[in-house]
Amino acid sequence: MCGIVGYTGRANAAPILLDGLKKLEYRGYDSAGVAVINDKKLFVSKTAGRISALCEKTDNGENLPGFTGIGHTRWATHGAPTDINAHPHTSNDGKFAVVHNGIIENYMSLKEELVKKGYEFESQTDTEVIVHLLEMYYTGDVKIALLKTAARLSGSYALGVICSDYSEKVFAVREASPLIIGLGVGENYFASDVTALVQHTKNVIYMDDGDFAEITPDDVKIFDFAGKPKNKPVNRIEWDIRAAEKDGYDHFMLKEIMEQPRAVRDTLSPRIKDDRVCFDEINLTDEDINKINRIVITACGSAYYAGCAGKYTLEKLTGIPVITELASELRYSQPLIDDRTLVIVLSQSGETADTIAAMKECKKRGAKVLSVVNVVGSTVAKLADYVIYTWAGPEIAVATTKGYTTQVTVLYLLALYIADRSGRITPSDYAETLASIQKIPQLIRQALSMNSAIPTLAKKYHIHNSMFFIGRNTDYAVALEGALKMKEISYIHAEAYAAGELKHGTIALIDDYQPVVALCCNKAIMEKTISNIIEVKARGAQVLALAEKDSSKIVTIADDIIFMPEMDDYLAAPVEIVPLQLLAYYMAKENGCDIDKPKNLAKSVTVE
Ligand code: M6R
Repeated sequence: MCGIVGYTGRANAAPILLDGLKKLEYRGYDSAGVAVINDKKLFVSKTAGRISALCEKTDNGENLPGFTGIGHTRWATHGAPTDINAHPHTSNDGKFAVVHNGIIENYMSLKEELVKKGYEFESQTDTEVIVHLLEMYYTGDVKIALLKTAARLSGSYALGVICSDYSEKVFAVREASPLIIGLGVGENYFASDVTALVQHTKNVIYMDDGDFAEITPDDVKIFDFAGKPKNKPVNRIEWDIRAAEKDGYDHFMLKEIMEQPRAVRDTLSPRIKDDRVCFDEINLTDEDINKINRIVITACGSAYYAGCAGKYTLEKLTGIPVITELASELRYSQPLIDDRTLVIVLSQSGETADTIAAMKECKKRGAKVLSVVNVVGSTVAKLADYVIYTWAGPEIAVATTKGYTTQVTVLYLLALYIADRSGRITPSDYAETLASIQKIPQLIRQALSMNSAIPTLAKKYHIHNSMFFIGRNTDYAVALEGALKMKEISYIHAEAYAAGELKHGTIALIDDYQPVVALCCNKAIMEKTISNIIEVKARGAQVLALAEKDSSKIVTIADDIIFMPEMDDYLAAPVEIVPLQLLAYYMAKENGCDIDKPKNLAKSVTVE
C-alpha cells in the first residue's frame, strides 16, 4: 500500500525522490518522508500529510543536498499517520535509514528482543524493528547485515536502505511486495512501481521475492537471500510518461474513464486474428480445456465485480459452472478446488495481498491458475500458470475504471475461446459473438458521448446521503460495481441490490425521495425490473434508470433516464458501467471530494 523510491547518481537525490513519490502517491498518501546521505551523514525529513507538505518542508528537496537517498509515501497500518510514524526510520547510531512497504508480522517479538538489548524505539510502526536489526547485525558490511535481518523477518516487505558509511549505495530487498530497479546512465533507481521510473528510464529489472540488490550509480548487483549473485533480465517499459499524467483532465479518473475505448481496443486487438480469438500467450492444451469441470473466479473489489459480470457470459458460452468468490473469503473457506478446476484471478495491480493468498491456496489444491492482470511483471502475473495482460496502460486514480472494463472484456473473449476449443459453440454463434465483442470499444465511445446530462443529474442527486443500485442478472453485476464507484469516491452510501430481493426486506428503507438507480439494460428480464421500479416508485423513490434508447416504457416510469446504445445482454457490462462511473465522478465533484485519492483508500492493497 505504501510507495518507496531510491536513487543514487550524480544529481541531487531529494528532488528526484520527491518527484518519484508524487507518481506513487496513489499507493498511500497519509504521510511521507525522504532521507539522503551527505558528507557521510544521514539527513531525514518527514511529515504527516501529502507529498506536497513534504515538498514545502524541504523546499522541493533543495534543502536536503546529497546524491544518494530513499523516499516513502505511507498508507498507515501500524500507528497513526504522524510525523514520527512516517518513514524513513533511522537506527539509534544514525547510520541507517529504511523505507518499507509491507507488513512485518513478527515485529512484536522482535521489538521485545531489541528493547531488551537496549535499542530505543520512537515510532509505533512494525518497520522500525528492521532498522534496529540492521544496526545490531552491522559490522561493516551492509549486505551481510541486510541478509541477516531479512532472515529474521516474517511477512511482506519491499525495503530501501541507505547507510552513511556508503555514500554512493542504495540497497533494496524484496519479499512479497513489489520492487523494480530502474537503470540509468551514471544513475540508478528503485521504486515500487514503474510509474516512478518511466520519466528517467525505460530499462528496468523486476525484482523477485528473495532478491537483494546493491545499487551504485554505475552498477546494479543482485543476489538471492543466501548471498549468491543472480543474473536478471533487463526489461523495456513500453509506455511513456504521458500515460501516467493527467493530460489536461481535472482528474486521473476522468482521463481514465475517457481512455476506455482505447484501453479495451488495445486489449482486444492482439487477441483477434483472422476472425478468431487467439491467446498466443497461454498454452492451454485441448486436454487441459476438456478437463475443466468448474471455473472459479477470485479477486477483490472491482476486480471481483468484473468476475461477477463475466460469470454470466462464461456460463452461457461454455456451459461450465462458474463460481465467483472474494479472494479474502476463498482463502479461508476450504474451497472445493482440484486439478479439474480452472481458477481465474483478476487483478489490475497484480499485487493485492488477498488475491495472491487465494491464488496460492488454489494452486496448493492442484488447480491451474489463469491470471488477468494489468501490471507487467507483477506478483500475480509471476505466480500464475497462464497470464493474460489487459493493455489498459497505467491506472493512477484509486477508483478503477479502465481496469474493470478491460478485465470484463478479457473474460468475454476467454468465454468464447473456451467455448470454441471445447466444441460448445456453433460457427455462426461464434462469429456473431466475436463481432459483438469487437463492437465494445465503439459502444463505450457512444456511451460516453450520449451522456452529456450526467453532470446535471449529479447536481440533482448529490445532496442525498444514500442510494440504491438495482438490477437483475447481468444488470445486477454492473450495479455492484456502480455502487462501489459511488461509495469510494463520493462517500455517499450506495448499496447494490438484486432487484427481485428488495421486497424481501430492503424495501422497508425506501421512502420519499430515496434515490434508486435502476439498471434495465438486460432486455430478457427488463419487464421484471420494471415491476421493481414501479414498486419503489409507489413508495416515493426517485428513480434514475439506465436503459437502451428505445425502452419507451421506462421513459414513462423513471424520473430520470440515462440512455445506452443497443447492446448484447451478455456483453453489456463494459458499456453499461460507463455512465455509472461518470455519475460517481460528477457526484464526487459536486461533493468536493478528493476524487483521485479518496480518504482511507490506496490503489494497491498489499496488506490482508
Ligand atoms: O489491483 P486489484 O485489481 O487486485 O485491486 C482490487 C481492489 O482493491 C480494487 O478493485 C478496489 O476495489 C478499487 N478501489 C475499486 O475501484
